[in-house]
Amino acid sequence: MKKIFALFYFQLFLLITACNPTTSNKSNATVASTTPSSAVTTLSLKSLVNFPIGVAVPAGDADNSLLDSPERQEVVKKHFNSLTAENIMKMMYLHPEANRYNFEQADALIAFAEKHQNLVHGHALVWHTQAPKWMNEYQGSAEDFSQVLSEHVTTVASHFSGKLTSWDVVNEAFTDDEVSTYRDTIWYENIGASYIETAFRLAREADAKADLYYNDYNLTENTNKIDRVIEMVDDFQARNVPIDGVGFQVHITTDTPSLDNIKAAFAKVVKRGLKVRISELDIAVNQAEQYSQLTSAVAQIQRQRYAEVVNAYIESVPESLRGGITVWGITDQDSWIPGFKKRADWALLFNEDFTEKAALQGMAEGLSGIVPTNKTVSFDWFEYQGKDEIFAETLPKEQYQNPIVAGFFPDPSITRKGDDYYMVNSSFSYAPGVPILHSRDLVNWKLIGHALTNSSQLNYNNLGLSKGAYAPTIRYHNGLFYMINTAVASGGNFFVTAEDPTGTWSEPYWLPEIGGIDPDIFFDDDGKVYIAHNDAPAKEPLYQGHRAIWLWEYDMEAKKVIKDSGRVIVDGGVDISKNPIWIEGPHIYKINGWYYLLCAEGGTGDQHSAVIFRTKSLEQPFVPYAGNPILTQRDLPKNRTNPITSTGHVDMIQTPEGEWWAVFLGTRPYDKNLYNTGRETFLLPITWNNQWPHILEQGKAIPYKLKKPTTTNQLVDADTLTGNFVWRDEFSSTKLSPHWNMLRNTYRGWAQLGNGKIQLNPSAISLHTKQQPTYLGRRQQHMTFDASTALLLPESSQVSAGIVAFQNSQYHYYFAAKKINRGYKVFLEQVKNGEVTHINSVEFDGISGQQLVFSISANKGDISFAYQVESEDKVYFAENLDATMLSTEIAGGFVGSTLGIHSRIEGSEK
Ligand code: XIL
Repeated sequence: MKKIFALFYFQLFLLITACNPTTSNKSNATVASTTPSSAVTTLSLKSLVNFPIGVAVPAGDADNSLLDSPERQEVVKKHFNSLTAENIMKMMYLHPEANRYNFEQADALIAFAEKHQNLVHGHALVWHTQAPKWMNEYQGSAEDFSQVLSEHVTTVASHFSGKLTSWDVVNEAFTDDEVSTYRDTIWYENIGASYIETAFRLAREADAKADLYYNDYNLTENTNKIDRVIEMVDDFQARNVPIDGVGFQVHITTDTPSLDNIKAAFAKVVKRGLKVRISELDIAVNQAEQYSQLTSAVAQIQRQRYAEVVNAYIESVPESLRGGITVWGITDQDSWIPGFKKRADWALLFNEDFTEKAALQGMAEGLSGIVPTNKTVSFDWFEYQGKDEIFAETLPKEQYQNPIVAGFFPDPSITRKGDDYYMVNSSFSYAPGVPILHSRDLVNWKLIGHALTNSSQLNYNNLGLSKGAYAPTIRYHNGLFYMINTAVASGGNFFVTAEDPTGTWSEPYWLPEIGGIDPDIFFDDDGKVYIAHNDAPAKEPLYQGHRAIWLWEYDMEAKKVIKDSGRVIVDGGVDISKNPIWIEGPHIYKINGWYYLLCAEGGTGDQHSAVIFRTKSLEQPFVPYAGNPILTQRDLPKNRTNPITSTGHVDMIQTPEGEWWAVFLGTRPYDKNLYNTGRETFLLPITWNNQWPHILEQGKAIPYKLKKPTTTNQLVDADTLTGNFVWRDEFSSTKLSPHWNMLRNTYRGWAQLGNGKIQLNPSAISLHTKQQPTYLGRRQQHMTFDASTALLLPESSQVSAGIVAFQNSQYHYYFAAKKINRGYKVFLEQVKNGEVTHINSVEFDGISGQQLVFSISANKGDISFAYQVESEDKVYFAENLDATMLSTEIAGGFVGSTLGIHSRIEGSEK
């Protein structure tokens, strides 16, 4: 039986990986030369679900104590929100002598948990194992024993009352026999069966809030045992003995028990309306003792098993009864299995060196309801090539190219720490949120990460693509980076902080007092902190587009907006008598004794502009500059060649050399007001006149090329983000490039990198929903481009996979392949104004694993689709279709297009 299971999983693994023609002749069971790793991108278990995700941790005097291990703490911080003491809250630790309790170690662990906002589960009040010597040697009457037990339960439960989410009140009270019965422990032997209910009653008396669990092992494999526990539950419920749930230890193997057994056992508890916890999860792989190390094939089997078991929990336990899942240990080195079972094993989620195992991926998949099947699809590479005419000419060495960052990088904000510049942009409902770019010369940039990578910071489910993260401001102050932003329709204004802008960024500090959008954070030299932002005017708006800039004082120490400090500092705009519209994007600076307020006016479209105000004191009104706007392209002739339009939303920065520069957004339409590239980031020098900053003379066109900032600093490994370039991802690293974006939510575990491929586990969620489809997109940075990708023809006839040109859920193209009876078909789907049109499909003889290259060629408003099956001719599938529907003008919203890979589960073939 065991063998059959192992074979099944192994075949599954082959199915998943066999699609690679270049490796299909190699053995898949080769021992990984390095520890198998599955890190695709920032994945956080706890962010995937809304019930506790816990881990048992060593503490106290243990060599591997969490409290002395920064590596373990990192893992815990990232993935878990609940802790169980692996040992130190057991009887022998808490109650070492008859008259002495020792709470010190447990209290230290609880203090750690409190500091890191972790829940704590207590394990275990009453158990026969790991009881102190004095208890085991105790002699006395039934009453004496009862007294010992009662005193222990009451003292311990009272001590921790208010600090724990739940308790294992009694652990392992039943036998594994064919007719499961009370285990013969010191408690049963001396008190009788009543010791169990006594413990539950006293625990409730001492701690009214903690959920009380009965905890045991083998409950998912031994029907008699779970039935015996249920008998007790029924009896307790009939007699009002307090019990809130059953803890299933789930120390299992990759072979047994079956998923059906697991589900049936959970269902019995659910039926009684009690909570179900997986209290001690680990999945052993070496039960047959056939391995001396974890091979990559076995790691995949384990991943699959974690996904299935965790998914079985999600499927059979309704949300209200999910007490949570706790993994029994952090790394394989911490695991109790090798010691207890006297064999090598690797049952947990992390390798000894703290790297993530495929098992972690599996746990994430299970939590997300995505269990890998043979529906998994693989892509071998993705290539994007920009071909804009305007970038064709070579750039003189002393000049830089505008835009400095091409394609959907709107609303730039910039800060400097020493010689290093950091820039952020809006990302709307893409995830991760708020890209962070790094530069040392202002013209060469590298995308180093994102500020919003956790679902506590970003959760845009069911939102349109142009909601989510709006215009951010980034500032460096006193050793800390601040990124302040609005989560539109998903929480409002907040800021996050980081010592290192690459990450990790803090949890959000929400600003419920502050409405509107575009918050700016300003650190005055007297220590005061201010937040300026756009919001409705103080009184009824006088006209459409009438907005105001507000200023609030912020108490950084208390992390609180100072109550009633908010006031309007600009009403309407530079001159309210002219009905100025959409004053927004404020930034405040203090320069040579003046406070400057830089804002955008006119809306982010072609009427956009930048305007400046100043004052000597924040108590005094801001006075607008007579020379406003200091940047606009709105009055230039509409028919000029290669126009740059919509310029505004400026942030400015001084270089260490003393020069001033402005970053701002602009667009490059190819026809009238049509652009698919979104709003991009441009750079211009600032000159000063009577202590007023000037960016560009009115009536002058933004230059595409001009003299670089003065500096000898450079970034050695900058990305190429402007000009014409080729970007190719071979999918050969272990971490997903930050240039790939997902939709609406943090990564939910559906992608895996390995063997130079990316595997996607599709869901039924299509691109025209407002959820997270299996889609990875990179920005369209040119009006003329080619994009192509190599798909390995999928094994399953229930999926499609291919390339996408995506503006939003209502406007996109999906060009994909799908297995059918006679071979495969390629099809093209157009979604325009939300309507799905099947453009065309072509059938061909293909075999699974064969490579199919999809390509998209676009030139401004035209888009063409072609494909090529390995060693056959390229087929020009659909030529010069409408690409204007991928423009902001037609699709609406604030984002630019992305190009990427997608897969989805298909209904059965008609
Ligand atoms: C184990 C710990 O992991 C070991 O460190 C210790 O030596 C023995 O106990 N069921 C339980 C847990 O309820 O308390 C056990 O923990 C594992 C089995």
